[in-house]
Amino acid sequence: MSISTVKESDAPALSLIAAHSHISGLGLDENLQPREVAQGMVGQLNARKAAGIILKMVQQGSIAGRAVLIAGPPSTGKTALAMGLSNSLGKDVPFTVLSASEIYSLELSKTEALIQAFRKSIGVRIKEETEIIEGEVVEIQIDRSLTGGHKQGKLTIKTTDMETIYELGNKMIDSLSKEKVIAGDIISIDKASGKITRLGRSYTRARDYDAMGPDVKFIQCPEGELQKKSDVVHTVSLHDIDVINSRSQGFLALFSGDTGEIRQEVRDQINIKVAEWKEEGKAEIIPGVLFIDEIHMLDIECFSFLNKALEDDFSPIVMMATNRGISQTRGTNYKTPHGLPADLLDRSIIISTSNYNANEMKTILGIRAKEEEVELSNDSLALLTKIAEETSLRYAANLISVSNQIAIKRRATTVEIQDIKKSYTLFLDARRSVQFLEQFSDQYIDDKGSVALSRSGVVPMDTSA
Ligand SMILES: Nc1ncnc2c1ncn2[C@@H]1O[C@H](COP(=O)(O)OP(=O)(O)OP(=O)(O)O)[C@@H](O)[C@H]1O
Ligand SMILES: [Mg+2]
Repeated sequence: MSISTVKESDAPALSLIAAHSHISGLGLDENLQPREVAQGMVGQLNARKAAGIILKMVQQGSIAGRAVLIAGPPSTGKTALAMGLSNSLGKDVPFTVLSASEIYSLELSKTEALIQAFRKSIGVRIKEETEIIEGEVVEIQIDRSLTGGHKQGKLTIKTTDMETIYELGNKMIDSLSKEKVIAGDIISIDKASGKITRLGRSYTRARDYDAMGPDVKFIQCPEGELQKKSDVVHTVSLHDIDVINSRSQGFLALFSGDTGEIRQEVRDQINIKVAEWKEEGKAEIIPGVLFIDEIHMLDIECFSFLNKALEDDFSPIVMMATNRGISQTRGTNYKTPHGLPADLLDRSIIISTSNYNANEMKTILGIRAKEEEVELSNDSLALLTKIAEETSLRYAANLISVSNQIAIKRRATTVEIQDIKKSYTLFLDARRSVQFLEQFSDQYIDDKGSVALSRSGVVPMDTSA
């Protein structure tokens, strides 16, 4: 019995360079100790160590419904940490990202959007037994009728112990010719779907090598029975199962993403069914991770829903991130730490991130430059680091690509100090922009709608005033 895992074909990676594309993991060693610089991650050692422990918890797959809050000042790597965690999870473990503002949509109610996100983060690994025919092709005989429309044929296939002739229908003949199967190939046919896979060529045909080209894989002719049972494993999310089974949607909704609201009865039934499969050993539940970025954007209704949902049987580990200090909880008029209600905070374990020192910023900027394929001279990297210290890491990182354009314009391949200086004067950081605003405040439209359209004076726009 062979076990194979069905995986999505590796989709071609987008070649765009995004904010976190330099991060490929948490950069931990096998004892979960963070390396100073690894997998694109720099510093922030305690937070990374903590994230490593969460990673272990998820990988063990036995703990559900925990809340983890990543809290820290802006651009201290909270989102980066979550991305690193997601890259370290296996392919089968679901990781769903939800930006809290996404739940305010007109099509779905807030709680429906949250339930769907929760259920997208729970994987169900389903084992299915299929019958396959596996052997070496001895002969393929195809008779075409004179009109050409109808085809008939015979396939002779063998193992080292037996040989059988199968009648072929139209569909099988088509897929055999599509796969370009010829005598001497070792193939496997899925009996249920009729799918044919070419596994390689038989060693006995190794003499024909010259005719085959170098990239042919030679394998042994299989032994034993031609027909075998094989386990196929699919991993889907609970949400996928919901969509397929909700009668108003159908599975096509999976591709359009337009799933609408799913009735609670459907979900209840699926929970029962999945629990049954689990009992019978047909399915395995894999709790994944739901990452809700900018969690302070949720309101009090969502928070109380989260409290309840975390106690559900099928609940993922919920990771949240925020850069808010003591601030108002949306939907209430009181202030709370991180803008989260006290009961949710109490249920969460908190990972905190802190600001980077100059050295760490320098390393991060260096990594970003490499990621964006920009060559920085040593001096310009030092200047960028200085700028990052005075303004922000994000602003300095944004200057990399801008300065590169300026360097290209003067036909240089390396970004020098002059390019950085130029982009620093062309593009303002937040603080200088505020200074500018304060200086020329009367030239902008203010809250009352008043603006100075000419040098001579202020024109009130709001006529009721
Ligand atoms: N430790 C780190 N190692 C490597 N790159 C990092 C690290 N921390 C942050 N970065 C990079 O710096 C930039 C800002 O970090 P990030 O977006 O994660 O900040 P954040 O804490 O989520 O901020 P905000 O609160 O504003 O959302 C990103 O491009 C990120 O990839
Ligand atoms: Mg962030």
